[in-house]
Amino acid sequence: MNLLIIGAPGAGKGTMSDLLINNFHLVHVSTGDMLRAAVKAGTPVGLKAQEYMNKGALVPDEVIHDIIVERLSQDDVNDGFLFDGYPRTLNQAEDLDAILKQIGKKIDRVINLDIEDEELIKRITGRRLCPTCGEIFNIYYKAPAKEGVCDKCGADLIQRKDDNLESLTVRLEEYHKNTQPVIEYYEAADIVSHINAKQGVNEVFEDIKAALEGLC
Ligand code: AP5
Repeated sequence: MNLLIIGAPGAGKGTMSDLLINNFHLVHVSTGDMLRAAVKAGTPVGLKAQEYMNKGALVPDEVIHDIIVERLSQDDVNDGFLFDGYPRTLNQAEDLDAILKQIGKKIDRVINLDIEDEELIKRITGRRLCPTCGEIFNIYYKAPAKEGVCDKCGADLIQRKDDNLESLTVRLEEYHKNTQPVIEYYEAADIVSHINAKQGVNEVFEDIKAALEGLC
């Protein structure tokens, strides 16, 4: 089963991806995570991506094309993958179709996490991340037992550079302008499940599981 998860910044794509990959044994392909790793490693892709990401702007499509082609050439995607945060533009969606056609794969379902912009402020500004094990926390909704420390592995939690109100405003503008048309693109293929992402984490995941029934 090959899936996409789409939604505004803070809609819960990463949170739901963790649950999906563990329950359905999918490979998680997050362009955001791959770009942040490239920035940290100081690779040419990272150096190009950094200025866009810090502002909240989208990284150019040609940079994304290269990292996707490279990722899909690895064998682990053959048993099923979950794209998180990709495609984000119509151009990326059309490009993905062409890449998948070449390797004889297709997208089975698109999970669209629906939520109003106002709900996202606390989710984004309150998010804290574990740099070691990747666990996602939130000071308002899922606080760690000890402030600033990961419950799972004890590492010091961090805040993403783009998790501030200024970047969030740009990220939301990008989302409405460039990513909402991607949802319409997949709606035309009749493969979108719209999920109410304003509920608690367990309720959102139950709705996603129900939407995937019959696919796996
Ligand atoms: P990316 O890393 O994809 O970030 P994003 O889309 O802005 O989404 P987030 O990771 O911020 O949020 P999320 O939906 O995963 O929410 P989470 O589950 O963490 O991209 C970052 C940047 O990289 C982009 O701005 C762009 O520059 C670049 N980029 C990436 N891909 C690109 C592409 N394809 N093309 C071009 N550029 C690209 O949850 C958020 C918080 O809410 C957490 O604290 C969590 O605990 C909490 N939470 C989650 N669910 C719930 C719930 N149901 N109830 C209460 N709290 C909840």
